[in-house]
Amino acid sequence: MIDQTHAAVDAVRKRTSLRPVAAIVLGSGLGGLADEVRDATRIPYGDIPGWERSTAPGHAGELVVGSLSGRPVAVMKGRLHYYEGYAMKAVTFPIRVFRAWGIDVTILTNAAGGLNPAFKAGDLMVISDHINFFPENPLRGSNDDALGPRFPDMVGTYTQELREAAHAVDADLREGVYVGVAGPNFETPAELRMLRSWGADAVGMSTVPEVIVARHAGMRILAIATITDMALGDRPEHVTHEDVLAVANRVGRRLGGVVKGVLSRL
Ligand code: HPA
Repeated sequence: MIDQTHAAVDAVRKRTSLRPVAAIVLGSGLGGLADEVRDATRIPYGDIPGWERSTAPGHAGELVVGSLSGRPVAVMKGRLHYYEGYAMKAVTFPIRVFRAWGIDVTILTNAAGGLNPAFKAGDLMVISDHINFFPENPLRGSNDDALGPRFPDMVGTYTQELREAAHAVDADLREGVYVGVAGPNFETPAELRMLRSWGADAVGMSTVPEVIVARHAGMRILAIATITDMALGDRPEHVTHEDVLAVANRVGRRLGGVVKGVLSRL
């Protein structure tokens, strides 16, 4: 794994001499921010050894390296989802590459269903904590102590200062617990009632695997969910991927503003 990661870092370094301070993972319908990166080097995922391509609708597959808010960044335009069939190691491989490249901060965005009845579609939620309800863990298997501890502590995973920076940029951000599910089906009303009773405020099909690996690697983490639909078990509504993308596109500019504001405070 380490060899593969280093081969990927070598491939990226051949294309750019920039040393990003933050990696940014853009979720469904939220790719617009990648187009604001200045002096961008665009590296298709297929050009990076070991890095799978994204197949999800609404996800391009390129690493955009350049400057955002005057900070050097690496932006993943299109993430890899477990529901696409990738192994957990493939889903989280980019995070290993970012770490080996010397990046300390990971900023993740996603589209999520709102479980907290006080939320509404279009809200942005800073993730304060998560519930891993994926059937697999990306750290399963032999542990490389050079990468991180066998049994990582998950208290304080979502870095307090980064959360505070996000709220300072946009006072209307919500905050809450994200539960990560495998998908690809949206949840049944019974599942939504269960997830809510567990204490989750939003549900989505990403982010948790990457966060577990970023935490294992000792990175600082900020994650923001876009509430694209309300997922209330006692008031179920039909939801489509098109609805999700439409709301994500609408809110993308505001989310981009939050990310840029946080970057400028790093
Ligand atoms: N459930 C799961 N994932 C999602 C949802 C949802 O309602 N909306 C966007 N991603």
